[in-house]
Amino acid sequence: MEKDLSNYRKSYEKDELSKKNVPENPMELFQQWFYGFPKSRVVLLKRFTYEGFIFYTNYNSEKAKAIDQNPNVCISFFWHSAERQIIIKGKAEKIAENLSDGYFETRPRGSQLSAIISNQSEIVNSRNDLEDKLKELEKQYEGKEIPRPEHWGGLIVKPEEIEFWQGRANRLHDRIRYRLNEDYSWIIDRLAP
Ligand SMILES: Cc1cc2nc3c(=O)[nH]c(=O)nc-3n(C[C@H](O)[C@H](O)[C@H](O)COP(=O)(O)O)c2cc1C
Repeated sequence: MEKDLSNYRKSYEKDELSKKNVPENPMELFQQWFYGFPKSRVVLLKRFTYEGFIFYTNYNSEKAKAIDQNPNVCISFFWHSAERQIIIKGKAEKIAENLSDGYFETRPRGSQLSAIISNQSEIVNSRNDLEDKLKELEKQYEGKEIPRPEHWGGLIVKPEEIEFWQGRANRLHDRIRYRLNEDYSWIIDRLAP
């Protein structure tokens, strides 16, 4: 077997280094790179289709940056009263801009303005700063349509594995797992509780 790889070029575009943003001590940078930590948070599911599960967020947030680096995500749902859980593993990606526009238009004006002013997860001096900014923008956009900021939009999680859990007597719970096959059919297995 022979393969000519001389034209194989990989473009490296995942991140960048800058003297302004690195810590003074190189061991700290090593630690940051070495220990990538998973982080979970609650978001609101706004839509689901056969394609996947959509939520909206700030594209500069920690979660959006993490997804840029590694699109593999896991989401879970729990209904205490129904004794049910669903765990979904899949890949997240941005949805089409026109879909984000469509949803942004349906949001109350206050939420639209907050999406513009809030640099999600950045440190803020005080709550007053945020509220002042909100008041400023309220005046600026009085009587006007508020455009969706580019840094805000939807992410869709396209499922590759979905596990349904139903609580049963004697802790002998039911667990049914679907795994996406290469031909896009689903392989269904029962798992031990
Ligand atoms: C009930 C509830 C619903 C939330 N819904 C959303 C949401 O739909 N989108 C969102 O970006 N953050 C939502 N949040 C806030 C996130 O949990 C998180 O704090 C925020 O997105 C910042 O995340 P980051 O770590 O990615 O920067 C919600 C929090 C709670 C408690």
